[in-house]
Amino acid sequence: MNSPKRSPKPPWKKNPPFIFGVSEGALKYMGIEYTVAIAEAAAKKSGLPIALHLDHGSTFDIAMKCIRAGFSSVMFDGSHHPYEENIKLTKEIVKAAHAMGVSVEGELGTIGGVEDDLSVDEADASLAKPEEAIRFYEETGVDALAIAVGTAHGMYKGEVKIHYDIIEAVVAKIPVPIVLHGGSGVPDDMIRKAIQAGAGKINVNTENQVACTAAIREVLGKDANVIDPRKYLTPARTAMKAVVQEKIRLFGSSNQA
Ligand code: 13P
Repeated sequence: MNSPKRSPKPPWKKNPPFIFGVSEGALKYMGIEYTVAIAEAAAKKSGLPIALHLDHGSTFDIAMKCIRAGFSSVMFDGSHHPYEENIKLTKEIVKAAHAMGVSVEGELGTIGGVEDDLSVDEADASLAKPEEAIRFYEETGVDALAIAVGTAHGMYKGEVKIHYDIIEAVVAKIPVPIVLHGGSGVPDDMIRKAIQAGAGKINVNTENQVACTAAIREVLGKDANVIDPRKYLTPARTAMKAVVQEKIRLFGSSNQA
């Protein structure tokens, strides 16, 4: 008897670990209890290790609020503070978070924003300095470190230039993952090179938003009489899934759970 033909497993089923990163703005929009419940339900249903992570937390209080609500990881972004102050504030959060078994990501250097045109001078001015990043890790004890290496949040207007040498210099001296923010719109070969250089966590947001909104526009553009949100939110969800599946493949995170 012939065995039934199996369709290949979608990458979704290939045991990738996940980091569900939530900004303060997204938290305000979704509500902290609902955010935690979504992550818990996803972890239970998928059986995958899913970290619930606060992205770009701005204060001690918001980090503690997230930890109390059930987050497993928090970022404190003190990059707009002077260097020594950033160390001091990050250290306080690491001490409190570690006491509760929660990991902390810190940030050094300035990662450009959505509206930034990445002229080289501007980008260079905000890059992280390897010796500062190493001391930052040693003094704070963070579990992951975001360093500005040329990427920016949002889609790029110009060409992105990643300073792989900075990643390599820091990775050689610290044992925790280096985080690459602004993953949207970075060409695949540059992402591969950044991973080879040692980037251990890559943040992607805007590409999901672009895919989501394009799918909704397409549905509504074809039929202006649609009123059932499921008619456009289902394709939007499918479009975002495709983005995430492609990143799982590109980042090599299949079967890493
Ligand atoms: P993008 O929106 O450019 O993907 O950046 C996401 C990010 O780094 C969130 O911290």
